Amino acid sequence: MRLLTGSARLAGVIGWPVAHSRSPRIHGTWLERHGIDGAYVPLPVAPEHFPNVVRALAQAGFAGCNVTIPHKEAAFAVCDRVDETAHRAGAVNTLMFTPQGIEGRNTDGYGFVANLRAHGVNPAAGPALILGAGGAARAIAAALQDEGAAVTICNRSPQRAEAMAAALPPARVLPWDQRAAALADYALLVNTTSLGMVHNPPLEMPLERAAPGLAVADIVYAPLETALLAEATARGLKAVEGLGMLLHQAVPGFHAWFGVRPEVDEELYRIVAA
Ligand SMILES: NC(=O)c1ccc[n+]([C@@H]2O[C@H](COP(=O)([O-])OP(=O)(O)OC[C@H]3O[C@@H](n4cnc5c(N)ncnc54)[C@H](OP(=O)(O)O)[C@@H]3O)[C@@H](O)[C@H]2O)c1
Repeated sequence: MRLLTGSARLAGVIGWPVAHSRSPRIHGTWLERHGIDGAYVPLPVAPEHFPNVVRALAQAGFAGCNVTIPHKEAAFAVCDRVDETAHRAGAVNTLMFTPQGIEGRNTDGYGFVANLRAHGVNPAAGPALILGAGGAARAIAAALQDEGAAVTICNRSPQRAEAMAAALPPARVLPWDQRAAALADYALLVNTTSLGMVHNPPLEMPLERAAPGLAVADIVYAPLETALLAEATARGLKAVEGLGMLLHQAVPGFHAWFGVRPEVDEELYRIVAA
């Protein structure tokens, strides 16, 4: 075990609860791999304490932290400055504590696109159909638009889909019950709902109408292969799993806090999947 010195760099992940988070394992693997004098710790923080804890961490010398459910919108509000992607997503998942104040970024969209590329999928290959209109959907839609893809949003609650489309012009909206019938018009299908996750109901999304070149991405990573991805593979479609997105979204934060740009590779995938 590596021992810390008095000048160790510190970061962590704030969630409520946080015990399920795989981020300590991701960053811990990189810290060990690069022999860095630093630590990345889980920080369970209830919503009512979130703003005070963030300011206290900055004052206590932390370099920054990740933010996970349910704090991503609250993190946006606590920042002195946010980057363009965070602004469009209305949510922050990565905080940097700088002498100029608290900087917020949203790296979920970056992680999603980097993972697509790692699977050989061009994010701008054609129109994307995004299932869901939550925080992750917004970050992914913004990132796909930045890559030049046309985005359609399809969500169970139509008001939420409309609000998301209004925030991300020229995104379009598709009624939830038309998702399977409209599939032939798309090059990329993305599940950003929590359906298909362990302990949640399955996602009902038949793929019969898929165009032959459709890529199917699921950002749910527990289980690693969702029923949606299994069906895509069985039909000979490209399937892109969600754990890779989680690994890639961690890269910019680690780089900013610890000064090394880390690699996402097979070994990291195995360690975090275990
Ligand atoms: N791989 C990664 O790195 C990564 C990163 C971030 C998030 N995620 C995962 O992505 C998922 C969504 O996260 P989030 O932060 O965007 O959550 P969120 O803001 O709570 O959004 C949840 C979405 O799921 C939909 N949904 C929930 N139950 C549904 C049901 N029974 N039928 C139809 N739609 C339903 C919601 O639709 P309504 O609007 O109708 O409620 C909403 O669009 C979670 O599973 C999370 O773990 C993965």
